[in-house]
Amino acid sequence: MRRPFVAGNWKMYKTLQTARELVDALRERLTEDCPVEVAICPPAPYLLPMQRAVDGTQIRLGAQNMWHEKEGAFTGEVSPQMLLDCGCTYVILGHSERRHTIGKGEDDALINKKVHAAIEAGLTPILCIGEKIDQREAGKTESVLTEQIKGGLAGVPADKVAASVIAYEPVWAIGTGLTATPAQAQEAHAHVRAVLAQMYDEPTAQAVRIQYGGSVKPGNAEELMTQPDLDGGLIGGASLKADDFMGIIKGTIQGKKL
Ligand code: 13P
Repeated sequence: MRRPFVAGNWKMYKTLQTARELVDALRERLTEDCPVEVAICPPAPYLLPMQRAVDGTQIRLGAQNMWHEKEGAFTGEVSPQMLLDCGCTYVILGHSERRHTIGKGEDDALINKKVHAAIEAGLTPILCIGEKIDQREAGKTESVLTEQIKGGLAGVPADKVAASVIAYEPVWAIGTGLTATPAQAQEAHAHVRAVLAQMYDEPTAQAVRIQYGGSVKPGNAEELMTQPDLDGGLIGGASLKADDFMGIIKGTIQGKKL
């Protein structure tokens, strides 16, 4: 059985002070025996202080991005080893905002290099995929997802894929308040698993945890998580407040009947 995984992507929010307050509140309220795995993904400058804040708790740390080279003249970038040194377990790769919003955007080939570098270093990638609204309306959702999975995971062996996390985040649902319906999300997740089964095999496809992301809130988490192929969520806005984030963790526990 896949252990549900809820991660908070803080994006470029918080100050050191408010980040500490949020983690303190989560520490107080998350029980040791929480059946859901929980991670926070703070902005890079806060990784080290947040690592200290979550030390000794069940809360795992993830980064929001990474460069794929070990070292070099890459001004402003962060290496896999630097993330490990900060205590990261996870690294989000290929997030929609990195593909479509920031600079000229990242393509599947670059994201694939990052996935390889993360795995080689011992980090677990959270590979983000998702279609834009025009692609959905043109009936291209499945082909877009297939291309992003095949491109992002090219050359990655089955055992490493099985231990990785994929986040399905429809671009039109991110930060918009528009959530995929449970049926739409389940359909996309089942497609992702079918592509993985075709690329690898059924056990590998069944092992991969697939998070849903895009306007997940305490009020819709439970219903989303009743769907069999949703294994938790990658949460943006609602991960910035302890009440909301805890509400989503609770909704996940209820949806999965844990
Ligand atoms: P929102 O939850 O704010 O829609 O963001 C989702 C997301 O992009 C998480 O990575």
